[in-house]
Amino acid sequence: MKLSFQKSSVDKISADLITVFLHQDPTAFKQETNTLVKVLRISPALEAGDFAGKKKDSAMVYLESGAKTKRVLLVGLGEKKEVTLERYRRAAAFAAKRAHKLKAKTVALFLPSLLHKPHDSIVAFAEGAFLSLYQFDKYLSKDKDENRKVEEIILASDDAKVSAAAKEALRYAQVVCEATSLARDLANAPANEIYPETLAKAAQDSAQRSGYKATVLDERKIKELGMGGVIGVCQGSARPPRFIILEYGPASKKPVVLVGKGVTFDTGGISIKPSANMAEMKMDMSGAAAVIGAFEAVARLKLPVHLIGLIPAVENMPSGSAVRPGDILRHFNGKTSEVDNTDAEGRLILADALAYAEKYKPAAVIDLATLTGAVVVALGHVATGMMGNDEDLMKKLKASGEQTYERVWQLPLFEEYEKLIKSDVADVKNVGGRWAGSITAALFLKKFTGTYNWAHLDIAGTAILEEAQEYIPKGGSGVGVRLLTNFLKSWK
Ligand code: BES
Ligand code: MN
Ligand code: ZN
Repeated sequence: MKLSFQKSSVDKISADLITVFLHQDPTAFKQETNTLVKVLRISPALEAGDFAGKKKDSAMVYLESGAKTKRVLLVGLGEKKEVTLERYRRAAAFAAKRAHKLKAKTVALFLPSLLHKPHDSIVAFAEGAFLSLYQFDKYLSKDKDENRKVEEIILASDDAKVSAAAKEALRYAQVVCEATSLARDLANAPANEIYPETLAKAAQDSAQRSGYKATVLDERKIKELGMGGVIGVCQGSARPPRFIILEYGPASKKPVVLVGKGVTFDTGGISIKPSANMAEMKMDMSGAAAVIGAFEAVARLKLPVHLIGLIPAVENMPSGSAVRPGDILRHFNGKTSEVDNTDAEGRLILADALAYAEKYKPAAVIDLATLTGAVVVALGHVATGMMGNDEDLMKKLKASGEQTYERVWQLPLFEEYEKLIKSDVADVKNVGGRWAGSITAALFLKKFTGTYNWAHLDIAGTAILEEAQEYIPKGGSGVGVRLLTNFLKSWK
């Protein structure tokens, strides 16, 4: 999908569909529509009074023959004082999806007078349109016409400040949207396509394309390093594990380490899950997908950060060789865990990765994991659960969450919860019982973090959608890519 910019007045744009965004405030509405009436001569449609710029409201207007375009879509933004970047994303998504339905090849978004910084606004419009058109359709055999897709999203404005910001903003949007699509593709791919070896291959391909380094450790090496969690979780599967290490940027700076849960399929293991919705667990590597997506974006944008990525990749299967409830594993840092439930596998592999991260003496470590069903109970599909040991790091992530609308919400790690994961036979137990499941999972992870600043993002609710959102189709959302890229863009 191509994003481009045209410095143009609304009547000079050429596109199969032109979208104009209007504010509801009477004076603004009048002024904005006056221009349209003058240059496009669409007064009859507006005089009927059917459309007044309310948010989510829209009207299609057909122009007389001889006009440069056949139709103009009017999209309401609502009251100026309520207009946010997210409203821009959603309005743009609405326009792009309408263009898709109309089988338009090109859709133009004629930008309104902007109420936020030009750069941020352009990025938001571009993101909403681009991301809303994502489809995971590579396995569908469709005829040609059905397959017709929007090929180009044109942002247009005649404002000098907007056009001055356009080039850089569109480059940023193009990169983060492509990286988000990559993360969605990896998550949506079935587990017979993406398993530890092929996930590692995808990381290596991305590294080669985008200019960073990927090193893949095989089972022998993982064993040799003493990563007992990774070995324990994978041992029931016919698929061997991989431990993927990504590196980008100047080693002179202390790195930020991103850790991503890479369970390519989670059956639950011997503590097997019910079959309803189990297919969703092909997306249990969404944390890994977000890390690969973020690397791709950061490398392509050449952001001035030193970044390390760690992805333990396994498939969690039941079999005669599988890890059993009651088994005790020894992790990379020597600590032991009692496997009370083989379905709490994410924390077992992350334990090794978080302990391994210490060797980089990181400035910060951020892990992303579809870790608990409990976080979906707490926050639904609206916000990512965040826990950690450093308020300043979490504050920054929260700010990036607001900016990108990949919002995060903090849960506490009060010490009272710790007794829930006490084990009689090992240093820690991998489940904490019915209550506070996301917190006990994070407290398990905390036992394996080093001396570094750490934030844990439980993306179980935000990475996997049962229902589409405005610019996120059902399935893998690619959450984390825009959040992390925004966060790393302003990293000191
Ligand atoms: N991958 C799941 C968590 C999950 C659930 C992600 C729903 C996305 C949607 C994780 O490995 C898991 O099975 N967690 C268990 C932990 C329990 C056994 C303590 C859970 O949440 O039920
Ligand atoms: Mn599980
Ligand atoms: Zn899992």
